[in-house]
Amino acid sequence: MRVLGIETSCDETGVAVYDGERGLLAHALYSQAHIHAEYGGVVPEIASRDHVRKLLPLLDQCLADAGCVRGDIDGVAYTAGPGLIGALLVGAAVGRAIALALGVPAVAVHHMEGHLLAPLLEPSPPDFPFVALLVSGGHSMLVEVSRIGHYRLLGETLDDAAGEAFDKTAKLLGLGYPGGPALARAAVGGDPGKYAFPRPMTDRPGLEFSFSGLKTHTRNLWQAHRGEAQAQADIAAGFQQAVVDTLVIKCRRAMQQTRCGHLVIAGGVGANLQLREALSNAGRKYGWGVSYPRIEFCTDNGAMIAHAGYHRLRAGQREPGIIRARPRWPLAELLEAG
Ligand code: KG4
Ligand code: ZN
Repeated sequence: MRVLGIETSCDETGVAVYDGERGLLAHALYSQAHIHAEYGGVVPEIASRDHVRKLLPLLDQCLADAGCVRGDIDGVAYTAGPGLIGALLVGAAVGRAIALALGVPAVAVHHMEGHLLAPLLEPSPPDFPFVALLVSGGHSMLVEVSRIGHYRLLGETLDDAAGEAFDKTAKLLGLGYPGGPALARAAVGGDPGKYAFPRPMTDRPGLEFSFSGLKTHTRNLWQAHRGEAQAQADIAAGFQQAVVDTLVIKCRRAMQQTRCGHLVIAGGVGANLQLREALSNAGRKYGWGVSYPRIEFCTDNGAMIAHAGYHRLRAGQREPGIIRARPRWPLAELLEAG
């Protein structure tokens, strides 16, 4: 079965073709980040309009790269939520219409399930069960994955998502958008031990996160030291270290609680090299296997949607002939996929 995947939940237009036997045949990505950079964050209306402009040409390019024509597609998967409603509707409308025109089934994919299963696209995929640390711009959660579609939420953020904390802190420090990569770059020249940073919610049991206090702490530090040379780099490094340490502590707890032997990291913040290194070191120390998607499949992409959609279509899941998108869609509402 050959599945066309479409991702348009935020500011990246992603398309991919996934084949059940041959794996990923091609993927194409167009990022709108440079357009939103001017505003310091995603402008939803601009995002929707740009998806309208870019999706069909990207789709044709991706099919050509995969050596396919539209008639070779056996099913269409599109991100139906969570995300920006206007942006989601572009992918949902195009995906549903193509499926209808080709007479093939369509399936609505949960964006976070796409992220969660992205490590399975890699050459040595993890076996089930595993614990997934899902850290993106909109979500931070620990999930126990027993099989595809069988997810138990272990803990999530009470306020800001990890990526959101990176983005807001970067903005505060006068770094560019998107904030995560900009802050990580600024941190390279900084001393993470120069200023003290809290490790939020690690002094009490539980698997919840909270990052908004860390952001406030950073704001206060910045106000006190912004005139000093090195302050930007040192604060960026201290903030990044605090987020990484906090995530490592929570992952360790989740691994102990579930007695799982394998940890998977997914979502945009999973592209952070320091986080990847710290979790790999923790895995070696405590004896867990650790998997990540390649960097380009941590952030939003069409490949993860084509792949998750393939598993759901193979399990017989189908969307009715209407266009549906859900800006909010709890992961817990997902059905088991076979
Ligand atoms: O998964 P994603 O592309 O979109 C959502 O589903 O939200 O994640 C985007 C988030 C942004 O907050 C971005 O700043 C963050 O991931 N991010 C990073 C890095 N690359 C992207 N955060 C820290 N370090 C990075 N290298
Ligand atoms: Zn995402």
